[in-house]
Amino acid sequence: MVLQEGDAAGTLTRTAVSHIGFSVPDPFRTAYFYERVLGLVVHEESPDGRLRLGWGGGHHVIELIEGEKGLRHYGFEVRDVDGIDGIAKRLADSGHNINSLDAEYIDAAVGTGVGVVVSDPHGTPVHFHSPVQRHGESTADTSRRPIKYQHITLATDNVESLTDFFVNVIGFRISDQLDDGRFAWLRSDRDHHTLAVVDVGQGGDIDHFSFDLADWADFKAWCDRLTDEDVNVTWGPGRHGPGNNLFVFFDDIDGNHIELSAEMEKFHDDRVTYVPRRWRPIPNTVNLWGGQLASWRRTSEGN
Ligand SMILES: [Fe+2]
Repeated sequence: MVLQEGDAAGTLTRTAVSHIGFSVPDPFRTAYFYERVLGLVVHEESPDGRLRLGWGGGHHVIELIEGEKGLRHYGFEVRDVDGIDGIAKRLADSGHNINSLDAEYIDAAVGTGVGVVVSDPHGTPVHFHSPVQRHGESTADTSRRPIKYQHITLATDNVESLTDFFVNVIGFRISDQLDDGRFAWLRSDRDHHTLAVVDVGQGGDIDHFSFDLADWADFKAWCDRLTDEDVNVTWGPGRHGPGNNLFVFFDDIDGNHIELSAEMEKFHDDRVTYVPRRWRPIPNTVNLWGGQLASWRRTSEGN
């Protein structure tokens, strides 16, 4: 199956993930894990018991909601001029129900701004909001926090409908796909992907989410740090074919897969025309260094 780019594809060029909300059995216990391992701190506890974690300023990165493990919402910071208006118009034109993000939510999370929320094809709310005021974020010690939250990979049973929604309505582009149509990497700024979708046979949840590190030397420090915190590396270190990024994976205490990544390929759509590439669905595509797969991953040609 070849995924298609329509007229809206490439409308967004300055949009990136900003936050992810998911439910866990014990938000305080999970918050402690993210404080300890990724340097996130609790920014606020909402009246209904949600914990919002960030790096001391700017937007929260993770929102923890008490409940059975699962994705509850995910969000993007739209820095494109008129980006949110354009997204809202394309959503309305294609018959989607859109709502404004709560002013309370925007004020707490973004500073002054606007935002909309819409359901993705699985019914999961997606937030699009205006640029984040990042004054006061802790940035000094890269070994104590990643550079940024970089992408979410959604688990789905319908790569085509999620790709169609994000590319042909929202305005992303397709950077790469697996030839069997079971994985697609989508971009909305210069990074090879800010969002990816993978067919795992069921839809509407997190496959993994990823944070950027500085470089290869930083990986070593982070792997040693994970060991110090009794957190096992579960996949990698390796290098992905699509995106060409270095990666290493570990699980949080609830079993969510977390990726640390660096050296992701940059796209310069204002200077060059790209054609979405199609990779063979073999282990050596998703892991160039010998094809070892994550325990939860299969490819259609050879496991
Ligand atoms: Fe990833």
